[in-house]
Amino acid sequence: MTKHFLSLAEQSTEELRNLLDLARQIKLHPAGFRDACAGQTLAMIFQKPSLRTRVSFQTGIYQLGGQGLYLGPKDIQLHRGETIADTIQVLSRYVDGVMARVFAHDDLVQMAEHGSIPIINGLSDLLHPCQVLADLQTIREKKETLAGRKLTYVGDGNNMAHSLMYGGAHFGMTVAIAHPRGYAPDPEVVARARAIAAGTGGAIHITEDPGEGASDADVVYTDVWASMGQEDERAERLKRFEGYSVDAALMGHARPDAIFMHCLPAHRGEEVAAEVIDSPASVVFDQAENRLHAQKAIMVRLMGR
Ligand code: CP
Ligand code: NVA
Repeated sequence: MTKHFLSLAEQSTEELRNLLDLARQIKLHPAGFRDACAGQTLAMIFQKPSLRTRVSFQTGIYQLGGQGLYLGPKDIQLHRGETIADTIQVLSRYVDGVMARVFAHDDLVQMAEHGSIPIINGLSDLLHPCQVLADLQTIREKKETLAGRKLTYVGDGNNMAHSLMYGGAHFGMTVAIAHPRGYAPDPEVVARARAIAAGTGGAIHITEDPGEGASDADVVYTDVWASMGQEDERAERLKRFEGYSVDAALMGHARPDAIFMHCLPAHRGEEVAAEVIDSPASVVFDQAENRLHAQKAIMVRLMGR
């Protein structure tokens, strides 16, 4: 059976731990993996913009001896009505793996169903698992252990909140989500994350109170208030998210040695204050760097010879 990387909920804790260990090895000894995907092509379908995902995947596959092929929103025939099923069956005849950034998560599920090559989720409206794998690598580097740590996500109950709950649950962390009313995470995702956490000693805590959510946190995390595709809701969201900025006062509820995380891109003065994201507690560029190493691990595992 072809293996995919669509959701952290579909991976076992052991698989994820192995991926994190491999990512650490790749980061320490990149030259040892120079030929791990020699001669292989990763097609990269983007229905939305990207800096980190695009550049880290393209660079990552090159560093593994393969090549990346960027397919932007207007480059292939999807926007002219070619089906996902046909597109992925054709790609399966040419390339060795597909990384796709889509709106509807179901597009990825269809790719996995109809194709015969590994599919990697480069972000969907539901989930962003590559980001969270890199984030777990970063937390492990900064805090040494994951189990028992508290990660508080403040803001929109979106793709980042969802994948953070799954990732944290796998590793026995407490993940608190503090969201404005009306912007809660998907209850099905919360239930599934709680089921994972039940087996690891982790916990999922949902609140509308950012101060309570952030209390004693080891990690405070936030993301944009209007995700890609929600541009029309931006003005409304700016009003509804008032009071949910991660500023120095909110960081004051967390542990004194707490780190600040953000998947980026960030909007200073909205979801995070400059005094926080530009402070020594911020590890946002380590997170961005680890996208490269973590995704190389995913490609080695899924496409490696
Ligand atoms: N964090 C992240 O996925 O960034 P991009 O949207 O720039 O890829
Ligand atoms: N929630 C954001 C994450 C960007 C990396 C979005 O989907 O736009």
